[in-house]
Amino acid sequence: MPEDLNIASGTKAEQYEALIPQIKALIEGEPDLVANLANVVAALKEQFGWLWVGFYLVKSASAKASADEPDELVLAPFQGPVACTRIKKGRGVCGTSWQKAETLIVADVEKFPGHIACSSLSRSEIVVPILRNNQVLGVLDVDSEHLNYFDVTDKIYLEKIVSLIEVYPRESPFSLNIER
Ligand code: SME
Repeated sequence: MPEDLNIASGTKAEQYEALIPQIKALIEGEPDLVANLANVVAALKEQFGWLWVGFYLVKSASAKASADEPDELVLAPFQGPVACTRIKKGRGVCGTSWQKAETLIVADVEKFPGHIACSSLSRSEIVVPILRNNQVLGVLDVDSEHLNYFDVTDKIYLEKIVSLIEVYPRESPFSLNIER
């Protein structure tokens, strides 16, 4: 595991290209999901300095929701200002990305109906679902204080980064719900 992150310069694609092998080295062979999510967001924050970057994991909010049909996103490792803890399916950018099981790029959060403003500084956002076997296990959310900050380059590389994260059956939010 590298001791310090090697911060890359260059185009955004070049920065992601330099970061990805370092993220792989950080999480390779480590089975603990929270530890890996924490290091992924720390590496992204250090490289890109975004306002907020973090994960939300799909979980059951109540006894009513079955383990097969979890109904909320719950805040997981993140870097940045304190944030909303729980987001319902279909709500905000994160809940919509979960519902559609696709990456959403929002150029201006004020124009996204139902956007949840965790920080008044956030102006644009990208949300990438963590997909395994056609199920969304969580989302990676990134916020910027600048308008129109994220594009297809972020989508491609963040989807790749999210695909590197191993979610072992015992650590899957779905299994956690079953075991509770
Ligand atoms: N803006 C998000 C909520 C999460 S925060 O940005 C950290 C949304 O609309 O889902």
